[in-house]
Amino acid sequence: GASRRWQLARELSTIKQVGVVGLGLMGHGVVQVTAMASSPEYTVVAVDGSKDSIDAGKKRIDQSLSKMLDRKVKKGVLTEGDAAAQKEGISSRISYASDVSALADCDLVVEAITENPEIKFSLFKDLARVTRPDCILASNTSSLSIKEMAVASGRPSHVVGLHFFNPVQLMKLVEVVRCDVTDPVVFEECKSWAQTVGKHPVSCVDTPGFIVNRLLVPGLAQGMLMYDRGDGSVEDIDKSMELGAGHPMGPLTLADYVGLDICLSILDGWVQKYPDEPSFVVPECLREKVAAGKLGRKSGEGFYLWDGDKRTTVA
Ligand code: NAI
Repeated sequence: GASRRWQLARELSTIKQVGVVGLGLMGHGVVQVTAMASSPEYTVVAVDGSKDSIDAGKKRIDQSLSKMLDRKVKKGVLTEGDAAAQKEGISSRISYASDVSALADCDLVVEAITENPEIKFSLFKDLARVTRPDCILASNTSSLSIKEMAVASGRPSHVVGLHFFNPVQLMKLVEVVRCDVTDPVVFEECKSWAQTVGKHPVSCVDTPGFIVNRLLVPGLAQGMLMYDRGDGSVEDIDKSMELGAGHPMGPLTLADYVGLDICLSILDGWVQKYPDEPSFVVPECLREKVAAGKLGRKSGEGFYLWDGDKRTTVA
């Protein structure tokens, strides 16, 4: 059964060196949690396109590690000396490079570059060229098809989705995504790898949005449609889901956090590709706000006015 296969995958696990391509919001977190794993320990090759983006990724990892270790020192879990030693150990397992050729010895490469299919296809082709034939290639995509990347790589049996959540260091879930051509041993190996980096893996098939975003994004769209129809105010829609459904934030606040441009591009992509799926719709207010440059928290205005994490109602 499944647990036996899982056990076998763990016993046979050959993952020692992990590559990460794209050191932005998501990729830097994947580098960090991988380098922090202790049983087993991994070496990590972290790749981004330019010196500036490598420096930015390195700085983010450094700050996040310091914050996490400082907290442990304050709690009395670690001495200052132990924290410094741990930080040095974790950092020493990470090397940085600006070219994918540095990934030649990796057993697993996780891609976390910009959500653009053409750029991802071209990267998967390059990855298949520079890595060993048994190296597993994974994408952190939120909304694109894993099968299409598998085909683009020319190594379809060894391509999976490894979908982390933001912030990677804190969020426990990883959606492990297989398609019809995924090698079952590769899939099990990725699930057990996700556990070793401290995450809870769930098995998904290659459907739009996998599990979480397939439920979440149409829910955000429904909140926006209610607002478009005048069924409720922004505040009442959000408060309802907070106090009535126990959600930590309402759909319109969450959409502002995600970024309205990101919501629009996901929904637009799905509507085009799956015109018969009734839960994939693009609300009018979403299109209008994005056209007006109101992208949510990051631009200072979306469904709310934003000052950092402080939110006020649009008059
Ligand atoms: P980001 O824009 O913060 O980072 C992307 C990084 O990739 C940048 O550092 C950029 O320099 C680098 N990059 C772009 N093209 C490259 C190339 N050809 N070679 C090497 N490096 C390249 O993006 P973010 O938000 O981290 O998203 C990355 C992926 O993760 C996307 O596929 C996105 O759908 C997915 N994702 C995003 C989540 C989020 O909350 N932002 C959540 C889960 C998944």
